[in-house]
Amino acid sequence: MTNAAQLKEEGGPLILVDSKGIWVKDIEGREFIDGISGMYFRNAGHGREEIAKAVYEQLAKVSMHVYAGSTPSTVRLATRLAELTPGSLSRTFFTQGGSEANETSMKMAQSYHNRTGGKGRYKVISRRGSYHGGTYGTQWLGDHPGFPRTEFQPVPAHVVHVPQPNPYRCEFGSRTPEECAEKCANAIEQAILMHGPDSVSAVLGEPVSQPLGGVVPHDSYWPRVREICDRYGALLIFDEVITGFGRLGTWFGADFVGVVPDIMSFAKGVTSGYFPMGGSIARKEIADVFNGGPEATFKHMFTYTGHPAGAAAALKNLEIIEREKLVENARARGEQLRARLHEMKEKHPIIGDVRGTGLIQGIEFVKDRATKEHFDPKVKLNARLTAALSKRKVWIRVPAFILPIAPPLVISSDELDQLATAIDESITEVERTVL
Ligand SMILES: Cc1ncc(COP(=O)(O)O)c(C=O)c1O
Repeated sequence: MTNAAQLKEEGGPLILVDSKGIWVKDIEGREFIDGISGMYFRNAGHGREEIAKAVYEQLAKVSMHVYAGSTPSTVRLATRLAELTPGSLSRTFFTQGGSEANETSMKMAQSYHNRTGGKGRYKVISRRGSYHGGTYGTQWLGDHPGFPRTEFQPVPAHVVHVPQPNPYRCEFGSRTPEECAEKCANAIEQAILMHGPDSVSAVLGEPVSQPLGGVVPHDSYWPRVREICDRYGALLIFDEVITGFGRLGTWFGADFVGVVPDIMSFAKGVTSGYFPMGGSIARKEIADVFNGGPEATFKHMFTYTGHPAGAAAALKNLEIIEREKLVENARARGEQLRARLHEMKEKHPIIGDVRGTGLIQGIEFVKDRATKEHFDPKVKLNARLTAALSKRKVWIRVPAFILPIAPPLVISSDELDQLATAIDESITEVERTVL
């Protein structure tokens, strides 16, 4: 997603040698606030020796599982996830990351249909402006100009796109978030009807979509999508790779939107990135279909499924999130951040919209607030902002016209003010040069 020439121009790549809390230190001794938690995964913050120790102790004792076997850590993690996730989500297939989790969720949905009279249901509806992974089956889900897929043709047959319920740029030109939510949910129903319900396996989406800076749909959207899925027998898959484990100020995005999916994909925050781990957790009613004789088995595997070191890292990480009340902190700091972003919007004409919730928020920049036109890429607004931020000890590589803000959930009130002030000052500096 990047190239050597560009990295050089930006003074990178950043080579890290130390880290603690929200801070990282590079090989030249420069310190930065990590403004996007590595890549939206470092929920429990940097430098957690407790997690490193848990991984070490696990590896020193049992460092693998045998084929078709498991370990106590993996079993305990599956149990803990069943307790933490809402509704009857209860049975997990573990993976190493988020793409594999979404692959697993899609295969699980299709297998479920195969066993329950729905052979032929294979299509997966996803929303434009999303990202769900880099593997062959996931890369075309969603659609975002920041992640070009043009080289990787053909588009797999399962992929169906519908609009994102982004109230700032509703594809239907809606005047209110509610109207946008209704029209975007209706678009899912229309897609199901157009393709034929007997060909649609699932609707897959992030409860709050990250790539556009944290698109929070109107409250009515997900309950309506749940209803539509139920009406046509399509499964609802939540991609909680980023929204899971506290980032929205709730344990899961499902809690935030008040809707329980049939299957939830998770990764990143489950271990805060201290060990590669992810998975798909299914509602009991879905998982039960895979109980029974050989024909019932879920025919899917990865060599490192449920790696005990990943499980040990996850268990310690979840213990820290709970013990230090990081979910509650994400909510409180999220409100503080939101207030600061609204103040910035008042001051800076190049801010078109501020959006998001908890510790996943973003600023969308525009050349003209009335037309919502973006700056010409030749202006290099993103590179200028990245440089201005790094001068002020904040590491956020601004990808295009959206500045994402997603620090570790351990951020204190003072640190959040420091981060917000650095963003505010950086916009002031850059604004002068582009307007
Ligand atoms: C929402 C979402 N889903 C899936 C993925 C893919 O996860 P991974 O890179 O661990 O395969 C990402 C990665 O950024 C993501 O943001």
